[in-house]
Amino acid sequence: MKDDDELCLCFHVTKRKVMQFIRVNQPGVPSQLSECFGAGTGCGWCRPFLKRLMEQTDDDSMSLPDSEAYASSRREYRKKKS
Ligand code: FES
Repeated sequence: MKDDDELCLCFHVTKRKVMQFIRVNQPGVPSQLSECFGAGTGCGWCRPFLKRLMEQTDDDSMSLPDSEAYASSRREYRKKKS
């Protein structure tokens, strides 16, 4: 996943926006990332990824799936939920 790909697909929040929010606001708990344009408050698919992004350290660069695989997995996730 590239920095300009959407991490929260429900609210079109990019990975870059989330990383910047974390850097500036230093949230204490993952739920505070909802203040970043509502990230994580829709279907819930992105919440584990938001949490992982928040917990990573500078020297521990996190790998996320590429955007196609990420969106495809979310479709499956939403199908199972409905
Ligand atoms: S993808 Fe973020 S809440 Fe649905």
